[in-house]
Amino acid sequence: MPGIRAPSNYSEEPPRHPALKINAKEPFNAEPPRQALVSSYVTPTDFFYKRNHGPIPVIHDIERYSVSVIGLIEKPKELFMKDIMSLPKYNVTATLQCAGNRRTAMSKTRTVKGVGWDVSALGNAIWGGAKLADVLELVGISKFTSVTPTGGKHVEFVSVDKCKEENGGPYKASIPLIQATNPEADVLLAYEMNGEILNRDHGYPLRVVVPGVIGARSVKWLDKINIDSQVCQGFFMQKDYKMFPPSVNWDNIDWSTRRPQMDFPVQSAICSLEDVNVGRNGKIAIKGYAVSGGGRGIERVDVSTDGGKTWKEATRYQKPGIQYIADDEKSDKWAWVLFETEADVHSNTVIVAKAVDTAANVQPEKVEDIWNLRGILNTSWHRVHVQVRHSSM
Ligand code: MTE
Repeated sequence: MPGIRAPSNYSEEPPRHPALKINAKEPFNAEPPRQALVSSYVTPTDFFYKRNHGPIPVIHDIERYSVSVIGLIEKPKELFMKDIMSLPKYNVTATLQCAGNRRTAMSKTRTVKGVGWDVSALGNAIWGGAKLADVLELVGISKFTSVTPTGGKHVEFVSVDKCKEENGGPYKASIPLIQATNPEADVLLAYEMNGEILNRDHGYPLRVVVPGVIGARSVKWLDKINIDSQVCQGFFMQKDYKMFPPSVNWDNIDWSTRRPQMDFPVQSAICSLEDVNVGRNGKIAIKGYAVSGGGRGIERVDVSTDGGKTWKEATRYQKPGIQYIADDEKSDKWAWVLFETEADVHSNTVIVAKAVDTAANVQPEKVEDIWNLRGILNTSWHRVHVQVRHSSM
């Protein structure tokens, strides 16, 4: 690949913030401490979770780096950074969430396979780049096209990195052409994150950002865009990131029976408290995030301080000074909502959060009901235990 190369070992990894909690070293997978996560609406890049399946690619000549657009189209083309950057630039605030977020808690019910994550395998960033809908126009595919004259219905993104799951081949994923060509879907080829050039961990020099969809489809270090008649047949679309029922185990699994997961379901977690807290009798601040997929806003966040018997509504917010209203044009539709409330706690208890999105989807109560062998999409009510220490004074 001209201009970029995929190392075959981990000797050329970028520097990372020491506060990140490392869940796997090689490939590097890490998340910020949960308290830090909700200290700002936009997640600082250093603290943004990092989810990799291989060594981080190295750019040695940005002038020569290009993305080839190929497949079922009339005008295949090689696009250089200058071509992408000459298109109108958009800044889209979007939360990226790994489908494996909260996997560790799911594995406590029954063992699951996959990297363990606490509640911080997500982050909210301002992504800057060109709209994929504009890029596809450069190869003759008009806006709102669902099928090309030669039968292209899916847009496959092929990366540069080498993954063992792909037998040393690149990471890949696809989205439907109609989503790619719809400018309102805000799918970006991003070269900036939080106002700065994308860094190596997050896909430098160019990554896909598919808002509202599990992070696995936002392919980093883009190499090729392939217009195809079928959904990408890669490992991460066909043999991973699919939601199975609790009855399916490694002996009876048939991957072909389920579709690749795309939209994220409604999710929330308390971040101001750890899973088990020992504290004094009195007021406790409860703060966390809530987010849903498909651009659905957060209609409500309910918090219980008695293990889920009674509930009160938390305050929701995004940007300072602007009241958050789900679906309002002033709200960031692809972004999380932070929530906060206070509770008076006088005895040992369980504090619970659950969110409701604008389609009235609610988080399920029990993790057991949504257990799946890969441990994805743990969106069950988030519970934290508080033990009150009564002082003897
Ligand atoms: N793209 C490539 N090329 N290689 C990867 O390993 N991981 C995916 C996605 N894109 C991945 C990738 C997964 S599973 C997630 S959740 C997001 O990137 C994580 O993006 P981040 O590391 O920027 O947070």
